[in-house]
Amino acid sequence: MKIVLAYSGGLDTSVAIKWLKDKYNAEIICYTSNVGQADDPKKLKAKAIKTGASRLYFEDLRLKFVNEYIVPSLKAGAIYQDKYPLATALARPLIAEGMVKVAKKENAQAIAHGCTGKGNDQVRFELTAKYLAPELKVIAPVREWEFHSREEEIDYAKKYGIPVSVTKAKPYSIDWNLWGISIECGRLENPWNEPSEDAYQITAAPEKAPAKPEYATIGFRKGVPVSLNGKGADTLSIVEKLTKTGGKHGIGRIDMVEDRLVGIKSREIYEAPAAVILHAAHRELEKLVFSRDLYEFKTLISQRYSQIVYFGQWFSHIKECLDAFVDESQKFVTGEVKMKLYRGACTVAGRRSPYSIYSESLATYTLKDMFDHKAAQGFLEIFGLPSKLEGLRDKK
Ligand code: ARG
Repeated sequence: MKIVLAYSGGLDTSVAIKWLKDKYNAEIICYTSNVGQADDPKKLKAKAIKTGASRLYFEDLRLKFVNEYIVPSLKAGAIYQDKYPLATALARPLIAEGMVKVAKKENAQAIAHGCTGKGNDQVRFELTAKYLAPELKVIAPVREWEFHSREEEIDYAKKYGIPVSVTKAKPYSIDWNLWGISIECGRLENPWNEPSEDAYQITAAPEKAPAKPEYATIGFRKGVPVSLNGKGADTLSIVEKLTKTGGKHGIGRIDMVEDRLVGIKSREIYEAPAAVILHAAHRELEKLVFSRDLYEFKTLISQRYSQIVYFGQWFSHIKECLDAFVDESQKFVTGEVKMKLYRGACTVAGRRSPYSIYSESLATYTLKDMFDHKAAQGFLEIFGLPSKLEGLRDKK
């Protein structure tokens, strides 16, 4: 049997190589992708092979991640439970897609991942695999094996000469990609505990951020970020730059209690400077060019879209249908939004669009006012009719 394993080089997936090999009498092919975290492919390859894998595929998926996953979710306004921009959730189907390709190329019979049975990530990997390659078996060693603690895993690793770099347990579990970082476990498990500074990886504490604000002007074309501070740029570099600048100003720290698909509530910390800035800017531009009906209706679509992504249903007809709606809605989402970044806050400082339906001559309170005030009288007769009827009834 041949198994393609999603490999990070950490303790779980290192132990998984040996465990899978023995339990399934299998050849193990490792798969790692670059989705924005800073792995060294040479070191990973050497480590995987030393641990018993026969090969490691390393793929740079950053562009695909941005163009096929991040941009659609940004256009959709996908933010789970009003806070989480879905960095981890978006990367899982992408990685699973990559693994399935390798499995086909290698003629493997199974893929394996290192997710636990309590989380959302197992769902995302497995729904993607079911959709793309229902014939593949999916194995989740961490869900199946006999180890009950990190210490037991370390003992096993030592016994079989599996190189483990970490001796002391890391204080948090961290998942890192270019749309954001997810941090959990350790003292964060008590939702009353304020995260200590060591939990944060890429953002400055707002109180230590520069005392001078900085502006970032983001240009969009049909909902896609295409420029930063007046200079045309690809979305990947815009995301990278905003991660840096936003992080410096303490933007993008999110502390939330969220509902996992398996029913557990979990306390999560995220750092997503670029996602927070871009979502805020994008939504603001929609306010300028959308009708009230469209703005309010799209809010519903965004919420549903975020659930679909969170629940691992990236490859589904309902998501495709929502994408079609979202794409049409973005027809006029072209323009610029000026964001002010200052000590943890990212606020809109200005917005403009050639497709704006904001009219200064209607909004103004000066002599230039073009609004027909008299017309409001007749409008109120009719719009106010239900209130009048109810009022009359309730007086009786
Ligand atoms: N709760 C988030 C999600 O389900 C993040 C999970 C990330 N995993 C981690 N090891 N920190 O998308």
